[in-house]
Amino acid sequence: MSEKLHIIPHQHHVNVEHRRAQNKHQSFVIWFIGLSGSGKSTLASQLETQLFNDGMRTYILDGDNIRSGLNKDLDFSENARKENIRRIGEVAKLMVDAGVLTLTAFISPFAEEREMVKQLLGAANYVEVYVDCPIEECEKRDVKGLYAKARKGEISNFTGISSPFEVPQNPDVVVKTAEVSVAEGVEKIKEAISKKLQNSITTN
Ligand code: ADX
Repeated sequence: MSEKLHIIPHQHHVNVEHRRAQNKHQSFVIWFIGLSGSGKSTLASQLETQLFNDGMRTYILDGDNIRSGLNKDLDFSENARKENIRRIGEVAKLMVDAGVLTLTAFISPFAEEREMVKQLLGAANYVEVYVDCPIEECEKRDVKGLYAKARKGEISNFTGISSPFEVPQNPDVVVKTAEVSVAEGVEKIKEAISKKLQNSITTN
């Protein structure tokens, strides 16, 4: 505890407002939430492609990718999932500070951690997208073959089967991926963020 008293963050000359001004767009996080196989990565990827092609600085933080590197020490226990989201929240915060329009694709099953991330980033920097897909449909898709393994008991703590998923109560956008196309879903998110992206950029 006492060591923490000796940590004094440095204020650098180039700050987030300078970076946003240079990029000519705002930076914030589009946080995708949903079951495995619901379509988070697909939507995030399509949306990023369009924003990138429009000249924006973008980056996707994605569950399986981050769990292969930064978070490879974490399993799928409740505590490890909380730590997973906490670290991603901190990384996303740095990305926002770096001026990057950041998209995250993690199951993010717990309301408490989602709220923690929102507070950490600041509500203005957090757009919550619930990728809503019935588990029956995710299981039917079973792109990675993991639901079949979970049903056979080969994977423990599997979200929606043997580990809980708390449905977001007040997301900014809901995309029902069993009912709309990827293009329609992307359009809906773009509409929701368009005003935010265009907010005037100021330099200090
Ligand atoms: S989270 O719950 O901690 O937010 P995260 O999004 O990082 O999860 O990782 C989910 C991905 O890990 C899934 O898409 C799936 O490919 C893989 N995975 C492996 N084991 C599990 C499990 N027990 N529960 C859910 N996903 C798992």
